[in-house]
Amino acid sequence: MARKIYFTTPIYYVNAEPHIGHLYTTALADMLKRYHVLAGDDVWFQTGTDEHGEKIVQVAQKQGVTPKQFADGISGKFRDAWDKIDIAYDDFIRTTDARHVKYVQDVLDKVHASGDIYFDEYTGKYCVGCERYLTDTELVDGKCPDHQTAPKEVKEANYFFKMGKYQQQLIAHIEENPHWIRPERFRNEVLSFLKSPLEDLCISRPKTRLEWGIELPFDDKYVTYVWFDALLNYPSGLTETSRGENRFDQYWSGCNHLIAKDILKTHAIYWPTMLMSAGIPLFKQLDVHGYWMVGESKMSKSLGNVIRPLSFDAAFGIENLRYFLFKEMKFGADSSFTYDLFVERYNSDLANGLGNLLARNAGLVAKNFGAIPAHQPLTDAENAVAAKAKEVLDAYRSNFESRQFAKSIEDVCALIGETDKYITLMEPWKMAKDESKKGDLARVLRCGLEVCRVAAVLLSPVMPKKCAEILEYLGEKRPLDGSVALEELAAFGALADGIEIDKPPRFFPRIDEAALSQITEQMMAEADAAAKAAAQREIEPIKEQITIDDFAKVQLKVGRVVEAYPVEKAQKLIRLMVDVGEENPRQIFAGIKSHYPRPEKLIGQNVIVVANLKPREMKFGLSEGMVLAASGDDRLVAATVLGAAEPGDGIS
Ligand code: MSP
Repeated sequence: MARKIYFTTPIYYVNAEPHIGHLYTTALADMLKRYHVLAGDDVWFQTGTDEHGEKIVQVAQKQGVTPKQFADGISGKFRDAWDKIDIAYDDFIRTTDARHVKYVQDVLDKVHASGDIYFDEYTGKYCVGCERYLTDTELVDGKCPDHQTAPKEVKEANYFFKMGKYQQQLIAHIEENPHWIRPERFRNEVLSFLKSPLEDLCISRPKTRLEWGIELPFDDKYVTYVWFDALLNYPSGLTETSRGENRFDQYWSGCNHLIAKDILKTHAIYWPTMLMSAGIPLFKQLDVHGYWMVGESKMSKSLGNVIRPLSFDAAFGIENLRYFLFKEMKFGADSSFTYDLFVERYNSDLANGLGNLLARNAGLVAKNFGAIPAHQPLTDAENAVAAKAKEVLDAYRSNFESRQFAKSIEDVCALIGETDKYITLMEPWKMAKDESKKGDLARVLRCGLEVCRVAAVLLSPVMPKKCAEILEYLGEKRPLDGSVALEELAAFGALADGIEIDKPPRFFPRIDEAALSQITEQMMAEADAAAKAAAQREIEPIKEQITIDDFAKVQLKVGRVVEAYPVEKAQKLIRLMVDVGEENPRQIFAGIKSHYPRPEKLIGQNVIVVANLKPREMKFGLSEGMVLAASGDDRLVAATVLGAAEPGDGIS
């Protein structure tokens, strides 16, 4: 019976564009879906974007757009990236979708009605990067260890979810289901966290502080805390898919979350307790992977080392990257990406490995037979290769099921390596010169091609397009959609006879040093430029809001510059004499020297002066006010008024 499985990725925050870290979890879900379909299961796969919360408001403000406009842009970029690289998701959810908003409000109503939500005053340390309150034990030197920033103290009246109430039930569930959280080290981490009393969870934000969120159905002065909202995407998207179907009953019982270790606590603690309270059955499986580093460093825009899926695809092919990522990362452990390592693995496993085995054998078949020759009785040497192929196939399912797929990829590599040795030993190129050895030649080349076919079936979840091309080339027409059993498809000996074989295309051309350095330099330069541009474009965030009364305290006046000259001994200062309609002009020092190399040009200009600023004694004299200037990137321009205005005119 086909199992029903529901794979989910985290829904990604829309404060950053997709990078190799997001790609990993998303491609992992895609690979697991393809494996399970191949193995005969029925799979649903959902990904999406997480669009509410303070983090998004902050970036949108910097860009001068509304949070929704900002979210639309980045969410579209995620979707576009996944579409361009053929991620086979079944649905894409956004937390701003009406279907999701309704679901969240329904759950909140239910949990509220059951008495699991109460109102209270709270003081806590909030990390905007994590979008959650951190406990003192989580802080390192007073900072969030993940974001290296000090959390802000927040004191507010809010709604709380009785998370602590479910602590024992959660511990019991983890203990009774030893594989519920995999790998074991993360299960242990969660259990050890649960040794201390579990605090209740603050699940609201007052609209006076944050408006961007889902309104609480029982209090319109509050919005829902972003994690309480986001986690519910998993059932909300199934209950109403974007095509309007309800697939909850079909797939929820097979729910398998895929996440990285950064969001373990929210998924292993907040989420199951929320489900318990809402009366929704718990998810079936939580699989947690490690973090990708770039070399020794964390990926970051400012380091200019962020790897973007689409740029990588254009340079080296996304499927080759998938191969590298899935083979290199042992499930649960951190791993490091470098271009050099990628190229080394690609050249040895794909160009020299599978690619070469295929090219060698298919080349000789094309030259000597023009089609795949008929099956010949096997000798011990081919039987040994066949036995190895069977061994690899036998371990394949269990490796994938336990998420040790890296082991399966290594097994396929080892099979290719052994077959290569076998071919070298058999020397078919010598057989080809001897007419009497045609039968032997056919047997040996068939064996080589058979292994390529088996390898392409087994690697098809990892490199779907490339493997489909290889299978088509070898005349394997059976679909990989579960309608033919995996064991039949990947059985050694199933290669068809008589398929015409042309000279093989170069499925995996070698990447040489020169091409590597050219492309990596280009990509690095692009990343650097993007990082610099992003840093330069940084727009000053809006500060704490003020009232009209606060503003009324500032008295602005039109001033006319009557004298202007550089202060010799000061790097930045210009001395201005400004007529603000008083008896005498005022002396004002302005830090705009580098932008006004000929200050006398300012004479006669109307400027805006803060007239009631307390005079300040400076090294060069008294400064009696301040002249306003517009600043941004490298610019600094004195602010003026449009049209006719006279010194001393008020500005309000
Ligand atoms: N919005 C929350 C998740 C809500 S799920 C209900 C969030 N978003 S995120 O954009 O920060 O994505 C975090 C996830 O992105 C990680 O759990 C992982 O899946 C992926 N990765 C981001 N950077 C990564 C690495 N450097 N390495 C591996 N995966 C990483 O948290």
